[in-house]
Amino acid sequence: MYKIINFETLPSTNLYLKQNYHIFDEYTVITTDNQTNGRGRINRVWNSNKDDLTFSILLKPDIDSHKIPLISLIIGAAINKIIDKYIKSYIKWPNDILVNDKKLAGILVEGVFSEKIDAVIVGVGINVNSVEFPDNLIIKATSLKKELTIEIDKNELLTQIIEQFIYLYNDFLNGNDQYLNILKNNNYLKDKKVYINNTEVEVLDINNKGNLIIKENGEIKEIFFGEVTLEKIYNKE
Ligand code: BTN
Repeated sequence: MYKIINFETLPSTNLYLKQNYHIFDEYTVITTDNQTNGRGRINRVWNSNKDDLTFSILLKPDIDSHKIPLISLIIGAAINKIIDKYIKSYIKWPNDILVNDKKLAGILVEGVFSEKIDAVIVGVGINVNSVEFPDNLIIKATSLKKELTIEIDKNELLTQIIEQFIYLYNDFLNGNDQYLNILKNNNYLKDKKVYINNTEVEVLDINNKGNLIIKENGEIKEIFFGEVTLEKIYNKE
């Protein structure tokens, strides 16, 4: 049902699929052990090495383009569910996976459009077996090996995540929302205070549309995916 193609080196697995989606079938997964120009959200750089997982899944969905952000939530739920078999993880809405308050995985979902959606590329970077992090990331990032002190079989992790994702994605295409329960039950931000546009707000929940529900100056509001970058996060005292 899916096919994994590994490249020794690529600038970016997302970029490769953006340029070549037309020659591959849906559920083709591109991986590389040496991504030289990995990209994160908001044009950030994503560093990884051969000990980590770097992959992109190709989708060719027949859905409305406003639903693309939900695919980002679905892959987050899939990663969270599988990582939980190794160690407790949380989803920091919209799409970071955290373990012990540090970032373990990042997600970058990108669409290719003409009159319709031609392709959606689901890019994932997971810190698996790397233990050295640049100084600026030491307090913010972690890996499975750092937390568990054992080496993880990254290919086995990859197949489990792909299979879990395909299962949840098809459940979503069939009009169901199992991914939402996973998100709600593992919502890192729940009951925390965060800053959005320099304003302190309290996170209450994630609603059935996958949006964040917050309380700002006593008023309940809905925050749409992609609308904000969350700033500082505090535990509610
Ligand atoms: C983020 O946290 O900002 C998202 C990081 C996404 C990184 C992955 S690694 C595989 C794929 N190829 C890329 O260039 N980026 C994504």
